[in-house]
Amino acid sequence: MTVMFPVTRPRRLRRTPALRRLVAETRLAPADLVLPMFVKEGIDEAKPVASMPGVLQHTRDSLRKAAHEAVEAGVGGLILFGIPAEKDGTGSAADDPSGVMQVALRDLASDLGDATVIMTDLCLDEYTDHGHCGIVTASGEIDNDATLERYASIAVAQAAAGASVVAPSGMMDGQVGAIRTALDQAGYTGVSILGYSVKYSSAYYGPFRDAAECAPQFGDRSTHQQDPANAAESLREVFADIDEGADMVMVKPAGPYLDIVRQVRDAVDVPVAAYQVSGEYSMIEAAAANGWLDRDRTIHESLTSIRRAGADIILTYWATEVARALR
Ligand code: PBG
Repeated sequence: MTVMFPVTRPRRLRRTPALRRLVAETRLAPADLVLPMFVKEGIDEAKPVASMPGVLQHTRDSLRKAAHEAVEAGVGGLILFGIPAEKDGTGSAADDPSGVMQVALRDLASDLGDATVIMTDLCLDEYTDHGHCGIVTASGEIDNDATLERYASIAVAQAAAGASVVAPSGMMDGQVGAIRTALDQAGYTGVSILGYSVKYSSAYYGPFRDAAECAPQFGDRSTHQQDPANAAESLREVFADIDEGADMVMVKPAGPYLDIVRQVRDAVDVPVAAYQVSGEYSMIEAAAANGWLDRDRTIHESLTSIRRAGADIILTYWATEVARALR
C-alpha cells in the first residue's frame, strides 16, 4: 500500500514564530493608530469614564500630558472631543474661540506642532442641551441645512485654533461640502477633512455617550445615521463625501462592519479610516476583567482584523498602549 503524502501543506509556513512573522500579510504600526481623547471644561482632575475602564475625561493639563505620551509612543494622530461646562440649544460653545475644544487645540498645537496630526471631531451633540447632532426644530426634527451653517462655523473655529484635520461626525447631508467651502473662504485651504462618511446608528456607541456626555434627551439618531441592515448606501455616502471634498473617509463602527470596510477600501482611492468605537473597547475590557478573554491577544487580534479588512488608519482608545507594545 502506498502512503499518500498531502501535496499541499499549509502548516509548513506556520511552524515557527519567525516563519509566521515572515509571511504575515497584515502588520500593525504605531503610525496607523489614532487616539480619541476627551477634554472637559471646569474639572480640576481627570475623571475616569465608568463604562470605559482606562479612558479619562481630561483636564487641560492632563490632556497635554496624555497627548505627549501618545506622541512619544509614535501614534499617527490624535482626535479631540470637547465637553463644555454649559450646553444650549445651538451648541454655542462649539465655535466659541474660548470654548473648551478651541482652548485645548491651541495648547496641543503649541506643545506638539507638527509632531503629530491633530484632528477634531466636528459635531454638535457634545455641545447641545438636547444631545442631538444638529439644530432641532419646534416639532423635534433635526434641521439638516440649518445645522450645516453651524458645522461650517465650527470648522473655521477649529482650524483657527490649530486643527489640521476636521472630522464631521453628524451625518448631515452636504456637511463635507459646506465645511470645505467655509474653510477655503476663511483661508484654511490646507486643513483636511476626514469624513465620518459611513456611520451606522449603532448600539456600540453606548459607552461613548458617558464619556462625551451626549446621550440624546429624546429620540435617537436613526433619522440621520445609517441602518445596520444596509450596505449599499455606504458607498453612496462615501462617493458623495469624496465629491464634496473629503480627503479621507471613515467607517464606523469598525469590528461589526468589516464587510463595509473592505467594500469601501476596494471602491475608493483615498485613505480609509475605521473607528473601533467605545462599545468594541468596553466589551473586550469587560470580558478581560472577568477573566473570560486574554486582553492583550484580543486587542491585537481585533486591530489586526480591522487592518486586514482594509483600513489604513484605525481610531482606537488603545492607541498609546498598542503603539508602545509595537515599538
Ligand atoms: C458624535 C460621535 C459619536 C461617536 C463619535 N462621534 C456618538 C454618536 O454618534 O452617537 C461615537 C464614538 C464611540 O462610540 O467611541 N459626535
